[in-house]
Amino acid sequence: MVKKEINNELEYIEKVRKINEGKNLKYYILTMGCQLNENDSEKISGMIEQMGYTLSDDIMDSDLVIYNTCCVRENAEEKLFGKLGEVKKLKEARGTIIAIGGCMMQEKHIVDKIKKSYKYDIIFGTHTLHNFPKDLYNAIIENKKITDILDIDGEIIEGLPIKRNDSIRASVTIMNGCNNFCTYCIVPYVRGRERSRDPEDIIQEVKSLAEQGYKEITLLGQNVNSYMRVEREKGICNTKINSFAKLLRAVNEIEGIEKIRFISPHPKDFTDDVIEAIRDCSKVSKFIHLPLQSGNTRVLKAMNRVYTKDEYLKLVDKMKNMIPEIKFSTDIIVGFPGETDEEFEDTLDVVNKVKFEQIFMFIYSRRLGTPADKMEEQVPENIKHIRFDKLKNLYEELVVENNKEYINTIQKILVEGYSKTNANLLTGRTDTNKVVVFEGKSDLIGKIEDVEIISEHKWYLKGKLI
Ligand code: SAH
Ligand code: SF4
Ligand code: F3S
Repeated sequence: MVKKEINNELEYIEKVRKINEGKNLKYYILTMGCQLNENDSEKISGMIEQMGYTLSDDIMDSDLVIYNTCCVRENAEEKLFGKLGEVKKLKEARGTIIAIGGCMMQEKHIVDKIKKSYKYDIIFGTHTLHNFPKDLYNAIIENKKITDILDIDGEIIEGLPIKRNDSIRASVTIMNGCNNFCTYCIVPYVRGRERSRDPEDIIQEVKSLAEQGYKEITLLGQNVNSYMRVEREKGICNTKINSFAKLLRAVNEIEGIEKIRFISPHPKDFTDDVIEAIRDCSKVSKFIHLPLQSGNTRVLKAMNRVYTKDEYLKLVDKMKNMIPEIKFSTDIIVGFPGETDEEFEDTLDVVNKVKFEQIFMFIYSRRLGTPADKMEEQVPENIKHIRFDKLKNLYEELVVENNKEYINTIQKILVEGYSKTNANLLTGRTDTNKVVVFEGKSDLIGKIEDVEIISEHKWYLKGKLI
């Protein structure tokens, strides 16, 4: 494992803090993309707050703006450029420092476009997050534009300050990067190769979260269930906890933590030891994300997903046999290049068979530099939309069908607060991420309560406390 303890970089935190002393400065941060980016933003915020800035939710009242970007689909780009246009006035009026970081900054054509057409102070990538204090220092002191991007995989940085968004649930990144190169996907190009964090560091972090009162942990990575695979294969893994199954078992032992989730796993890495660990570990959620992407074997092959329709369905059956209460969520892409109507029907077929509790549906989006972008038979936009709507309709039918199974059952609900749509009702989620509303007092917020489900309303369930 290539691991680095930071100290030099953190000296800049103190330098910037001194410059900012007594100025009452504010920062605004916008995170796009996945939970890994959210977790990175928590680290960026941790550093920024130590440098003397306080969080503002009003961009117009901020002295430092950070956009942590995503590039997994095209709409993310449109969103960023829209924002950069808006923020120009703020920069001119107040001298606000504009920092743009994250996955999109690992794409050269995007950085070139920003440099040419937009105002900014700092551009930083996914491998240089820990340099942020130094970059900010240089931007302030030298008043010049900073670009801090690395094309090689960054080391795993331990010991960054972190400002968590929530006080009950926390995310813990266990690995960086991805080696799968699904042909539609940009992530391996912007996040680099798979590298796992030391299990001791992960366990230490979870223990400290438990001590701070956190109840739910989500282990994060682009392919979590291949945790330590690369290190094992290279023979550079000198720890007993050398697999995802073992890591789950170790985290399950940590006192105080009540629920463990993980995202995203890959179907190819659901080996028996992983399924057994999910089964045996009482705290590990039995609601599993199992990204399908497509239900058709030819399309799956073209996507480089390395499983067939049949293998996917067999895996679902095996997991159901080993863990009867298991439920699934999934990701699906419609309109991958060359996908025919018939092939798309296979996706609907798998959805009907597995009866996913939750489906994240995406319209295929061309990503520069990926193999699928060069495929000739791109599906026309109107056909992609027709397929998307078909899948969405099926999903909505399925939601109601699945909801019915909850009626008269007792669910353990982590109470999140009052419902936004009805301030008299408390709200929380089932283990399977379904919203449940029920009557109760505010002292239940933050606790896990037994709630009996009494009715279903498509996007939420009604229940009563027992
Ligand atoms: N590593 C995770 C998540 C990757 S990004 C995984 O494999 O599950 C989250 C989802 O975005 C993917 O699962 C995929 O469904 C979707 N996605 C990725 N690239 C896409 C593209 N080019 N167009 C549309 N959806 C895409
Ligand atoms: Fe992208 Fe595939 Fe890696 Fe997920 S597993 S990040 S979809 S390349
Ligand atoms: Fe987006 Fe980067 Fe996550 S591209 S989905 S923020 S890893």
